[in-house]
Amino acid sequence: METPTRITVHASGTYDILLRKGGLSGIGQAAKEQFKPCKIAILSDDKVFPLYGKTVTDSLEKAGFTVVSHVIENGEQSKTLDNVTAFIGTMVQAQVTRTDLVLALGGGVVGDMAGFAAAIYLRGIPFIQVPTTLLAAVDSSVGGKTAVDISAGKNLVGAFHQPALVYLDTDTLSTLDPDVLRDGFAEVIKYGFILDSELAQVIAKPGTFDLEQVIARCISIKRDVVEQDEFDRGMRGLLNFGHTFGHAIEKLSGFTISHGSAVARGMVIAAKVGAAYGLPDLTEAVSQVVRDYGFDLSCPFSAEQMYQVILSDKKRSAGDITLVLPESVGHCILQKMPATQVLELMKKIGL
Ligand code: GLY
Repeated sequence: METPTRITVHASGTYDILLRKGGLSGIGQAAKEQFKPCKIAILSDDKVFPLYGKTVTDSLEKAGFTVVSHVIENGEQSKTLDNVTAFIGTMVQAQVTRTDLVLALGGGVVGDMAGFAAAIYLRGIPFIQVPTTLLAAVDSSVGGKTAVDISAGKNLVGAFHQPALVYLDTDTLSTLDPDVLRDGFAEVIKYGFILDSELAQVIAKPGTFDLEQVIARCISIKRDVVEQDEFDRGMRGLLNFGHTFGHAIEKLSGFTISHGSAVARGMVIAAKVGAAYGLPDLTEAVSQVVRDYGFDLSCPFSAEQMYQVILSDKKRSAGDITLVLPESVGHCILQKMPATQVLELMKKIGL
């Protein structure tokens, strides 16, 4: 087992992100170094748990923890309040207390839900993230945003609750469906465009770089952003590059278009909107890399349809919408504008 790479986050809680290729069976020891023997309530899904549930459970039990697990159906449709309530029911039945732990074993859906359950159960208990998708590894497992979807929109009910530990074995990414792996690359591309031109250059061509190093770089960028703006009042908004339009596409498609695919399309729309707004035109630069990763660039929805969904998005404040627009490769700006102007710009670019 490799020695872990350690990235420490100093937010409202200080915690480590341990990257350890081939290290899943070391989760128990890593937890033991930080927590006294206690109960650990694992939340996972029916794709991930059959693959890694036993390794994680055995490792935790060997390290002296008592494990209870709750498995949900894989996919965004599971990210509901009802499923959080059911998981909390499992914790109540197992008599999980405030000194016990939640552990998220899975991708972004499981991580967001487990984190939210940990944030509200008994007014908050600590939790561990064990991300098993690229998207969760580079983005959602770090930074303490937890949430579920409700019918009015994605992630509309949630809480900031930082994990106590993030433990990543990059080997778990090797079992991902190619589409799910590609989804994660949408977030990797995002980091390059918003804050790191060197990263953008490194990842420009798929399959030509060391994935572990790229993951560590993305996590470090996210760490830096979270440390500066944990509660998303300013520059953390940059992490939403492609997401305002992407969430609308995801929602309008009834979630048949995946998050990564929607964000990829959203980044292209943001580049076009930026150019229409008068910023340098980054459309080709964004489209090129997104295309090279095999993403579909088209948006099957009209400006009006997108607008209605964007209006219900939580990023809107008092009639204004803040868009993340690219100014150059490695630099994006947060541009607040009236919602109606966003509609006009979407119409102008031909949506
Ligand atoms: N995924 C965006 C954020 O953590 O702020």
